[in-house]
Amino acid sequence: MLEVTGLRVAYGGIQAVRGINFHVNQGEMVALIGANGAGKTSTLKALARLLNAAGGSVRYCGKEILNLPPHQLVSAGIALVPEGRGVFPRMSIVENLQMGAYSRRDNDGIEADKEHVFSLFPRLKERAFQLAGTLSGGEQQMLAIGRALMSRPKLLLLDEPSMGLAPLMVQKIFEVICAVAKEGMTVLLIEQNAKLALEVSQRGYVMESGEITLTGESGALLEDPKVRAAYLGE
Ligand SMILES: Nc1ncnc2c1ncn2[C@@H]1O[C@H](COP(=O)(O)OP(=O)(O)OP(=O)(O)O)[C@@H](O)[C@H]1O
Ligand SMILES: [Mg+2]
Repeated sequence: MLEVTGLRVAYGGIQAVRGINFHVNQGEMVALIGANGAGKTSTLKALARLLNAAGGSVRYCGKEILNLPPHQLVSAGIALVPEGRGVFPRMSIVENLQMGAYSRRDNDGIEADKEHVFSLFPRLKERAFQLAGTLSGGEQQMLAIGRALMSRPKLLLLDEPSMGLAPLMVQKIFEVICAVAKEGMTVLLIEQNAKLALEVSQRGYVMESGEITLTGESGALLEDPKVRAAYLGE
């Protein structure tokens, strides 16, 4: 479904992503793990066309997308849940969800999807008219995921959904991510929490200093001595 070849991202003279290759098959959950500054967010931003790649190719469902404007990616079925959530703070939960559906015209479908999001995250329903800026970090993460789901994506890109959240909240959010994946969504999960990411995904890639240094089935990566030493604190 997603085929990344030779992707490069640079900020001025600094090479943040140095020609990486990876792919995500339809229906898979794939983890991209790595330390601070490894280039994970830069990779995701290039995929979502929030920045211009310095080179390489990204094929989505067989079509090159590195030259498309971001809004066309949403219509094509790609949704990003950005690092730091990026909810609209002065809009309510309902309005934020509505924004996620801005490219759609099927009002009945939008209403049904809103109810679906509320069923995944009952907490959001209880607070439907509360301003997003007043939500807790975990609730904002729920909303960011819910908003992404409102575009009915085929491919969900998640940038560190566990960041800054207490264990119980992380567990809740990952239960929903897994539920959505089970419904058939394809997921690319970026995480610094390597253990968690490898536990829920089928395959993983390890990124270091802008390069992919290791890849394999998540179960095997969890057992890999290098991964254990560098990312699992063992
Ligand atoms: N807007 C920018 N301008 C200049 N350099 C940047 C910019 N954004 C990122 N970088 C640099 O690119 C490199 C990769 O950053 P990136 O945010 O992709 O890492 P990351 O793997 O997502 O890290 P983290 O886990 O901390 O989120 C870093 O060295 C960072 O300083
Ligand atoms: Mg990042």
